[in-house]
Amino acid sequence: MSILLNNNGYDNQTWYEQLTMLLPQKTVYRYDQLSSVDVVAEEIEYAVIWNHPAGDLQCYPNLKGILLLGAGTEHIDQDPTVPDLPIVRLVDPEVLKDMALYTLYWVMNLHRQYDTYREQQSQRVWQRHDICAPQDYNVTVLGLGAVGKEVAKRLQLNGFNVSGWDRFEQQLDGVTCYAGPDQLGTSLQATDVLVNCLPVTPDTIGFIDSTLLSQLPQSAALINISRGDVIRDVDLLAALDRGHLSHAVLDAFSIEPLPEYSRFWRHPNVTVTPHMSGATYARSAARLIADNILRIENGEEPFPLHQHPARIAASA
Ligand code: GLV
Repeated sequence: MSILLNNNGYDNQTWYEQLTMLLPQKTVYRYDQLSSVDVVAEEIEYAVIWNHPAGDLQCYPNLKGILLLGAGTEHIDQDPTVPDLPIVRLVDPEVLKDMALYTLYWVMNLHRQYDTYREQQSQRVWQRHDICAPQDYNVTVLGLGAVGKEVAKRLQLNGFNVSGWDRFEQQLDGVTCYAGPDQLGTSLQATDVLVNCLPVTPDTIGFIDSTLLSQLPQSAALINISRGDVIRDVDLLAALDRGHLSHAVLDAFSIEPLPEYSRFWRHPNVTVTPHMSGATYARSAARLIADNILRIENGEEPFPLHQHPARIAASA
């Protein structure tokens, strides 16, 4: 009884060590070190994967569960051949905390204009700029799932005026929550910083486009900690070019790594970070994966479960 591990493009060794330690009765095979999948295909009962090659999961006839090494599901959603088995996302509270702190840092930076002071220092300019009180600085969080809720809470606890918008009704203490297409415009209209936490789904691709951006007040800023595909890049660049948006802090892009030719690298009002807002610490997160494997072993339901779009379509 074995586990197939493939953290494609990222560190595999730490995961290998942690899973081996937590599940000593199981053999862990690193996909990047397998010379032939055929050798172990029958043995594999769990796939612990990220960005795994499409079609490959069909090769393991005894597979019992698919455990993702991240919260996003777009890689697996794009593979219609994924076997009909439990698919479990990795929603690690430690990662959510990191993402919330990343957002808090940039909201504070935008609110207090720290970049401007850094720039002024290089010119030896002593000049204060007017700011409003944090409770008058309006941050709107798009998407109130696990990430959006953590971000909204962190910002609210630090004194900002926080609103959130989601497709569905949500409730969060101290946060004004808007829901559905009819309330989207209202949620945007007084926004100083818009934080995108929407997952990428067929409904959210290109959601942040010129129509949405035009509903933000002049000089609003955008932070994207979700996925690049939720934003229509040409519309964002146009809004930045004409000064409608003052700044964009982007941690996720449609193509990653961000290609050298991308204008985002060079735009004076864009901050690029390499999809690092939420660091996954294998040492804490491996425990969540191991617990979910044990749940499946014991006939219990692992969580959080993800519904593959092919299954939803089939049952509709
Ligand atoms: C990271 O981007 C994740 O989906 O966990």
